[in-house]
Amino acid sequence: MTHTMNTIAEQLTHKGYIVLDNPLENQLTRQLFPRCQDDGQARFQAACIGRDKKQIQTIRGDVISWLNEDDSTDLAYLAWMEELRLALNAELFLGLFDYECHYAIYHAGAGYAKHSDVLAGKNNRILSTVLYLNEAWQAGDGGELVLFDPTGAEIIRTIAPKFGTMIIFLSESFPHEVLISRATRRSIAGWFRASGSSASLTN
Ligand code: OGA
Ligand code: MN
Repeated sequence: MTHTMNTIAEQLTHKGYIVLDNPLENQLTRQLFPRCQDDGQARFQAACIGRDKKQIQTIRGDVISWLNEDDSTDLAYLAWMEELRLALNAELFLGLFDYECHYAIYHAGAGYAKHSDVLAGKNNRILSTVLYLNEAWQAGDGGELVLFDPTGAEIIRTIAPKFGTMIIFLSESFPHEVLISRATRRSIAGWFRASGSSASLTN
């Protein structure tokens, strides 16, 4: 297991989340950026929420595109996550079964209201991951991720969506919110799921 994966396992055990500055090779992060472009070819679609897959832009304003193993760049990212999945299963016995992730673009004015990544009564998502792809992100651009404590009452941490930054957290334990972005905000959001979980119902 690499040093990075060891650190991730340790922090997940102690705090339930970890923010990493630049865990991927820079070259891979750079290659992911052009894959996260709203190119008008119907690759990106408005994200939906909840069991009935409603589209409510005031709650969630991003457009998304799921990563695809047929693309070599997507595959390289999925392979890194597969390595992490195996490392975490060996260390933490989380029983992570698979991983799914999508590119997300928040155009100016979009955010994602405070939510949990786990549907009530369904333990389908165990770990959430987000990688940020915003090279020239500045304080005034908004779009920060706000992580709340399990009760949802207190802010634990506010994370700037800077190029290369990755957050990993226990899906069930941390309600979170994406503040309204004032610039185009790009990321890859993903989830490790447990065996026996149903197909993706929320994003
Ligand atoms: C999500 C989400 C956080 C982020 O897609 O469920 O909470 O910082 N994303 O993009
Ligand atoms: Mn979320």
